[in-house]
Amino acid sequence: MDCYHIIGQNRLNGKVCLHGAKNSALPILAATILSNKQSVIHNCPQLTDIKAACDILEYIGCTVTRQGQSVVVDPSGICRGDIPDNLMREMRSSIIFLGALAARLGKTCVSFPGGCELGARPIDLHLFGLRKLGLIINEEHGLLDCTAPGRLKGAKIVLSFPSVGATENILLACVLAQGTTTIANAAREPEIIDLANYLNACGAQVRGAGSDTIVVEGVPKLHGAEHSVIPDRIVAATYLAAAAATGGEVLVQDCCPLHLESILPVFEHAGCVVSCTQNSIYLSAKQPLKAVPVIRTLPYPGFPTDAQAPLMAMLSLAQGTSVIVENIFENRFKHVPEMLKMGADIKVEGRVAVVSGVSRLHSAKVYASDLRAGAALVVAALAAQGESEVYGLSHIDRGYENLDTTLQNLGARMIRKYEE
Ligand code: EPZ
Repeated sequence: MDCYHIIGQNRLNGKVCLHGAKNSALPILAATILSNKQSVIHNCPQLTDIKAACDILEYIGCTVTRQGQSVVVDPSGICRGDIPDNLMREMRSSIIFLGALAARLGKTCVSFPGGCELGARPIDLHLFGLRKLGLIINEEHGLLDCTAPGRLKGAKIVLSFPSVGATENILLACVLAQGTTTIANAAREPEIIDLANYLNACGAQVRGAGSDTIVVEGVPKLHGAEHSVIPDRIVAATYLAAAAATGGEVLVQDCCPLHLESILPVFEHAGCVVSCTQNSIYLSAKQPLKAVPVIRTLPYPGFPTDAQAPLMAMLSLAQGTSVIVENIFENRFKHVPEMLKMGADIKVEGRVAVVSGVSRLHSAKVYASDLRAGAALVVAALAAQGESEVYGLSHIDRGYENLDTTLQNLGARMIRKYEE
């Protein structure tokens, strides 16, 4: 099993070029099947989740070619609409293909994505929206057997929660529907805007992405497009947290500071110096970190749940007590027991974590249980005294491209080892 060996307490210093956003590239790759024309997706990160999405595209008959940071998808050869269980299980967010397959083929069968480390991960809002568009969905034996009798029809859909995935699935299904679709209480994440920009480049008519109401005029046909994925705001937050936790300074380039508007004030409140240009963020943590009274995770533009774990790792070393309320997922503190092994002082009660800063963390052997928990453990190990071992790298590889070499270039003493 792979693990990182990290010798902590090196101040990180230097520049990071940010890769494209996983959570934008995934729905956009699903969207490439909405036409039978080639699309070229640039700034597409080399991650295991992206590979899983490309595996699905190839399985249904697309030709997929990776050219450096670009992925070329030719969907003209699509010949099947089912996604087998093994591919669905490679990445639970494969459910994002449901809407696109239904719109393109009118028939699809996928397995019900299970829950994951973060909680139950229901898809009731996805199914609610797709059924409103006229998709017939039979749920039995763990399968979602879907049929669209004729062309899907536009509808008014009000989401009870601004679910990112449900908003994306409905968008992918309704761009080819007959008539107008309104998605009320839609997710407002930057990844939704990026998806809408790609869809519109393909000839769709999506308006209002980024607001809580999206209006789509269905069109009979789409064509391919060339599109560059937005930078990954969560990866940016992770590198900033690593620099802050080690008392260093970092310049994150090729990023979009606007997408971190709810995150950067936390670093400033913790005593970091933060300055931005249009596409870069500079952070310096020369002073001891200060606790942040309360952080509440919320749908965008609130503080993102994906940044909660890496920033908790940073705050575990801050002077004072920080309270973190996780409002999005019911089980997103699984990094805490591992951080306690490193000497952190964190008490969890339901969705609330009380982080009492300690003067130092010590090395330990720790295990990542999910993607962002893994990132948090790396941040903690970079700040800890001694040599830590971080296991569960398959989780980290899902969302961080070249994490070890990027951190090494910032001065981290870490190597990736394979151990039986
Ligand atoms: C997306 O997940 C991201 N994943 C997640 O990132 C991210 O944490 C999440 O949005 C919130 O920002 C991708 O984009 C691939 P949701 P998603 O639907 O779409 C409940 C990472 O680390 N819900 O907005 O699954 C759900 O249980 C990953 O990169 C329903 O109840 O998030 C959760 O409590 C982790 N019914 C809340 O909504 C539904 O039908 C937010 O889920 C759907 C969701």
